[in-house]
Amino acid sequence: MVAVFVEMSMSLDGYIAGPDDSQESPLGDGGERLHEWVFDLAAWREMQGLDGGKTNRDNEIVSESIERIGAHVMGRRMFDNGDGPWGDDPFEGYWGENPPFHGPVFVLTHHPREPLEMDGGTTFHFVTDGIETALERAEAAAGDRDVRISGGADVVRQYVEAGLVDEIQLQLVPVLFGDGIRLFEHLIGEPIELERTRVVESSDVTHLRFRVIH
Ligand SMILES: NC(=O)c1ccc[n+]([C@@H]2O[C@H](COP(=O)([O-])OP(=O)(O)OC[C@H]3O[C@@H](n4cnc5c(N)ncnc54)[C@H](OP(=O)(O)O)[C@@H]3O)[C@@H](O)[C@H]2O)c1
Repeated sequence: MVAVFVEMSMSLDGYIAGPDDSQESPLGDGGERLHEWVFDLAAWREMQGLDGGKTNRDNEIVSESIERIGAHVMGRRMFDNGDGPWGDDPFEGYWGENPPFHGPVFVLTHHPREPLEMDGGTTFHFVTDGIETALERAEAAAGDRDVRISGGADVVRQYVEAGLVDEIQLQLVPVLFGDGIRLFEHLIGEPIELERTRVVESSDVTHLRFRVIH
């Protein structure tokens, strides 16, 4: 059975982006700090078509995630950080011509749009009929691999609230943001119990993995 997992880099005070994220500043003011730990890793560089890089424990964890992903689901703001409808000259996302996903990506939006095929195997499919449909399509596309709910906070929150997530993996970054976009802001419903299944400490982040108890 395909597992559905969330994986995000988060500040100690719960933010996954700084304030004022935009197309010019996709992670908001100071938000790049959350991903500093990943940029020099061999697995991340390979996804960008680059050689070399560190092959430490962080790298093993990133490789492990890359290998298990058969399809991504993301919110439209993670795709383009824009303010709404596509307009006459729709932005193709800030991921470049060869995005680091290399597979199907299902983008939740209320604004229909034709699929966008990029270099390197990434195709963005725009889904306007809700989180369940996006997940069903992602699961079908993933084959025997897993589905990653890749962000941002709005979409992750909805999947967690709906009980559709099996696992939450966080890279806890030792920084306090104080402002920005919080991952689990205003979660609705009963408390959701988690079982902690892995803790890995590295020099830059703490990798936390939880199973969601349904
Ligand atoms: N730290 C990390 O690891 C990490 C990872 C990923 C993203 N991020 C950051 O997260 C931020 C974006 O997060 P966010 O919470 O603002 O937005 P988001 O979850 O990426 O996207 C929200 C948008 O998704 C669409 N949407 C959400 N639920 C929907 C539904 N049920 N049906 C149809 N469409 C739906 C809507 O798009 P429309 O307005 O088009 O209808 C909504 O405006 C960015 O700053 C990004 O850089 C951080």
